[in-house]
Amino acid sequence: MIELAASILSADFAHLAEQIQRATEGGATIIHVDIMDGHFVPNLTIGPPVVKSLRKTTNLPLDCHLMIENADEYIPGFVEAGADWISVHQEADVHLNRTLNLIRSHGVSPGVVINPGTPVEMLSEVLDLVDYVLVMSVNPGFGGQKFIPGAIPKVRRLAEYRANRGLNYRIEIDGGIASDTVGDVVRAGAELLVAGSAVFGSGDPKENAHKLLKAAHESAFLKV
Ligand code: DX5
Ligand code: ZN
Repeated sequence: MIELAASILSADFAHLAEQIQRATEGGATIIHVDIMDGHFVPNLTIGPPVVKSLRKTTNLPLDCHLMIENADEYIPGFVEAGADWISVHQEADVHLNRTLNLIRSHGVSPGVVINPGTPVEMLSEVLDLVDYVLVMSVNPGFGGQKFIPGAIPKVRRLAEYRANRGLNYRIEIDGGIASDTVGDVVRAGAELLVAGSAVFGSGDPKENAHKLLKAAHESAFLKV
């Protein structure tokens, strides 16, 4: 099932509740929250206190994308704050198996993320531990970057592995997703579509979300 995960990174942080409401009215069914530590990625964003406030404004799943080092230390705080899904980067975690089990032990959905420079093969030992795999289609750290097409074959390969190994993870994609790129990623097999600037960048998040989902569904229909 195709779903739109609205990434609040590009939203107006002074009016987050309103902006989330508009994106939800436009069809977003997941709220994607980018957590950056200034070490793993060259930017700083938010931590558990903001997630806790977001929790009060929406019933949609809060998809917390951790772009941080030492994730194990912070996972309990995000769980307590109300995260529903937590994903960690393969590149930032030397004990990935432990971290993914830790996330699940808290009753939260675990996901694993790979950067554009990381091959999907790096995930072969953890695919059975996750509910979703997030393929980055930009180098993480900032919204509004250009889509990197190398993500498309990675999505396709993840869909093949899933079928071959009888697994159930969902495939998420993040970075540069807009009307002009969504078709290719959906046809490759991505179903959780993260979009920041395409939803919150300019204009009305409700209309933007609706337009993007419409383009996604049309591409899926044309898939055959
Ligand atoms: C980038 C973040 C993304 C970001 C995507 O590091 O992980 O979630 O919000 O922004 P857009 O959709 O503008 O590329
Ligand atoms: Zn993200």
